[in-house]
Amino acid sequence: MSRTVFSAVLAFLLSAIAATTALAEEPHEPVTHRFCFTCHGTDGIGSEGIQAPRLAGMEPWYLKRQLELFRAGGRGTHPMDIEGMEMQPMAAILTDAEIEDVVQWASTWEYIPAQPTITGGDVDHGKQLFQACVMCHGDQAQGNQAMNAPALQGQNDWYLVTQLKNFKAGYRGANPLDTFGAPMRAMTSGLADEQAIIDVVSYINTLGR
Ligand code: HEC
Ligand code: HEC
Repeated sequence: MSRTVFSAVLAFLLSAIAATTALAEEPHEPVTHRFCFTCHGTDGIGSEGIQAPRLAGMEPWYLKRQLELFRAGGRGTHPMDIEGMEMQPMAAILTDAEIEDVVQWASTWEYIPAQPTITGGDVDHGKQLFQACVMCHGDQAQGNQAMNAPALQGQNDWYLVTQLKNFKAGYRGANPLDTFGAPMRAMTSGLADEQAIIDVVSYINTLGR
C-alpha cells in the first residue's frame, strides 16, 4: 500500500482507538473497525485515486463473502494484485462480529451509481460480448445471488476493468480458496484482449441508468 494511504489509515485507527479509550466508561461498542471510508470514499461511494471501488449498494451476501475471502487470503495475496494487496490486510484484522457489523452498517449507505470514466470502448461489440455474462450476472448486470454473481451495473468502470484483467491474468480467481472466483476466471477467456475488456465494460456502463 502506498505510504500516504498507510499513514492515513494508521492515523485514523490511532484516533479511533484514542476516541474509544476516552469513551471507555460509556456503554458504546468500540467502532475501530469502521475505517472503510478512508479508502472507499465518503459513504462508500468509491475512490478512483485509491482504486477502491464503490461499496454503497453492494449486496450484503457479496460484501460479506469478499471480506471473508480477503481475510482468509483467497483474494489480495497474489504479488501482482497491487490493489487487492491494499485491501487484504484491512480485512485480515476483522473479527466475525466486526464483519457482521460492517455489512449491516454498509447496508445503510445510499447507492449512487458511479459515473462512467473510460473512453474508447465499442459499445455494440461490448453488447455482443456481454451475452456470455447474462446467464450469471443478469441482462441488466443487476446480479444474481443464485449464481453467486454480484451486480456490475453502477460499479466504477475502472474497477471492473482492473478485475477483468486480474481474473484473466490469474491474479484473482486462481487461488484454491477462491471457489466462486474460479468459474468467473474461466469466463475471461472469451475476452480476447484489453480492448475487448474496455468494450464490455463500456456496454455495462449503459445498463441500469
Ligand atoms: C487502505 C485502503 C482500504 C481500506 C481502509 C479499506 N479498503 Fe476495501 N479495498 C481497497 C482497495 C484498493 C480495493 C480494490 C481491490 C482490488 O482491486 O482487487 C478494495 C476492495 C474491497 C472490496 C471488494 C469489492 C468487490 O466488488 O469485490 C470490498 C468488499 C471491500 N474493499 C470492503 C472494505 C470494507 C468493508 C472496509 C472497511 C472495513 C474496507 N474495504 C477498507 C482499499 C481499502
Ligand atoms: C458462470 C457464471 C459467470 C459468468 C458467465 C460470468 N461471471 Fe462474472 N462473476 C461470477 C461470479 C460467481 C463472480 C463473483 C466471484 C467472487 O465471489 O469472488 C463474478 C465476478 C465478476 C466481476 C468482479 C465484480 C466485483 O465486484 O469484484 C466482474 C467484473 C465480472 N464478474 C464480470 C463478468 C463479465 C464481463 C462476464 C462476461 C464476459 C462475466 N462476468 C461472466 C460469475 C460469472
